[in-house]
Amino acid sequence: MRIILLGAPGAGKGTQAQFIMEQYGIPQISTGDMLRAAVKAGTPLGLEAKKVMDAGQLVSDDLIIGLVKERIAQEDCVKGFLLDGFPRTIPQADAMTANGISIDHVIEIDVPDEEIVKRMSGRRVHPGSGRVYHVVFNPPKVEGKDDVTGDDLAIRPDDEESTVRKRLAIYHEQTKPLVEYYGKVAAAGKTQYHKFDGTQSVATVSKQLASVLK
Ligand code: AP5
Ligand code: ZN
Repeated sequence: MRIILLGAPGAGKGTQAQFIMEQYGIPQISTGDMLRAAVKAGTPLGLEAKKVMDAGQLVSDDLIIGLVKERIAQEDCVKGFLLDGFPRTIPQADAMTANGISIDHVIEIDVPDEEIVKRMSGRRVHPGSGRVYHVVFNPPKVEGKDDVTGDDLAIRPDDEESTVRKRLAIYHEQTKPLVEYYGKVAAAGKTQYHKFDGTQSVATVSKQLASVLK
């Protein structure tokens, strides 16, 4: 099964990706997590990406397309994969089509901007795995600690309100057009498109996802 998760920054893509990975045994390909790992490792890619990410801008299409192509070619992706944060521009979506990569389900998680700005201030992440929490809506078992490893949780550097607002503006300008793009792909019978109200609880959204992903 091949799935794309579409949605604004903070809509809950990473949160629902955790659920889908566990439920369906397919790997999550989060371009954001991959870039953050490169930043942490201090690779040339990481050094290039850090400035762009901290400013809330998008990393270049060529760089991201290369990264995803390489990841999809790995053996664990043969049975399927879940794309989280990719594609997020029309050229990125076109690159998938050009490489003959078809998608079974496109899932849009819809959350209004103001709700997102409120949410981001409470987000905590486990830098090692990318696991996501929220201090109120999805708290870890022990405050400030990852459920699996017990490591300290961190705040993402791009979660400051002014940066979140910039990321939202870029989302509307460059990523939102993919809703219409994949709507057309679905109308041609080449994928299934599902839209969910992401303001509902984490568990409710997961339940609704499970009902379409059988
Ligand atoms: P990326 O890491 O992909 O960030 P993003 O798209 O901005 O999305 P987020 O990770 O912020 O949000 P999410 O939807 O995963 O929400 P989450 O589940 O964490 O990208 C980061 C940067 O990398 C980009 O800005 C760009 O620079 C670069 N980049 C990445 N991919 C790229 C690409 N393809 N092209 C170019 N550049 C790229 O949830 C958010 C919070 O809400 C959490 O605290 C969570 O616990 C909580 N929450 C989740 N669901 C609910 C719910 N239902 N109710 C209440 N709270 C909830
Ligand atoms: Zn995420």
